[in-house]
Amino acid sequence: MEKLITSCWSNFQSVPEDYIFPPESRPGNIRIPFNSSIPVIDLSEAQKDDRTNIIHKIIKAAQEFGFFQVINHGVSVNQMKETMNVFKEVFQMPDEYKQNLFSNDPSKPCKMFTSSINYDTEKVHLWRDNLRHHCYPLEKWQHLWPENPTTYRECVGDFSTEVKKLGSRIMNLIGEGLGLKYGYFDNDLTGSILLSVNHYPPCSEPSLTLGITKHSDPNLITILLQDDVSGLQVFKDGEWIAVEAIPHAFVINVGYQLQIISNGKLKSAEHRAVTNSDHARTTAAFFVAPSDDCKVEPAQAITDEQNPPIFKSFKYKEFNSHYFNKYADTDVVLKSYEAPKN
Ligand code: OGA
Ligand code: NI
Repeated sequence: MEKLITSCWSNFQSVPEDYIFPPESRPGNIRIPFNSSIPVIDLSEAQKDDRTNIIHKIIKAAQEFGFFQVINHGVSVNQMKETMNVFKEVFQMPDEYKQNLFSNDPSKPCKMFTSSINYDTEKVHLWRDNLRHHCYPLEKWQHLWPENPTTYRECVGDFSTEVKKLGSRIMNLIGEGLGLKYGYFDNDLTGSILLSVNHYPPCSEPSLTLGITKHSDPNLITILLQDDVSGLQVFKDGEWIAVEAIPHAFVINVGYQLQIISNGKLKSAEHRAVTNSDHARTTAAFFVAPSDDCKVEPAQAITDEQNPPIFKSFKYKEFNSHYFNKYADTDVVLKSYEAPKN
């Protein structure tokens, strides 16, 4: 069984060779200036007359960047801090405890692993450990979660409930912006939430390593809780731009399923996580996704003869297994799902 990077990084004299990316995929200069153009949207305004304005901002951000941040989203600062602390604590638990959670079996409902689930076959390892489990529907999964820290299940359970509500609010705003009926996504299309907690220890050579390689997320939208260390970068117009760590904000990004349902109107943006030499970084990605058997296709309400569906319909679980084989390349992933051209 491989060792978690959290348990061994401090013993390294230098970065081991199997963590060094080839020059063409290295992050190189990681000190990219923050790009303040990734929109920060104040969700409290959506309750007032400004709803249309907020919807417009969200759609624009989802089209231009596939990314935006939300503030005043209704989840309390205390709850965000407490949950982030619990996530940090899991990675600080004794090695024996973490080894018990360890698994590379994709079907295991709650697991900790290092780098990626494909550790044995990947060419270069990622500078991260990961804890992964489902968190919606809560009753189905909560009893399988880590028992330690002792507050984990309750704290993460309450937080997941808030994230579910926030996800539903955001999807209703997006749905309205796309011209879909209210509640369009309040069903199997958002029937699952997978939580993926990343822990990136400090790394002495951030220009050679990566926390996560370039990818788009397979799901509908991702709701990302970050600590106060930045590291997320978005690939736009052939350049990497850094996403600022804004206190108490959530980062939202468009995944493949939303690109498909919106018939290409919204774009799933490619992104990656870089490491840094000074601080450990912890993030928690809540992947809001369709249920396994949910049928996904471009929304019929926004397709017609003039705008024919550009993607086929499929079951989400089929997409998911395809995604894990093709992982890296957005064009390659989506190619198999394009509708036949007449
Ligand atoms: C992910 C992801 C970014 C980060 O988990 O899919 O892109 O900053 N995470 O941790
Ligand atoms: Ni991602």
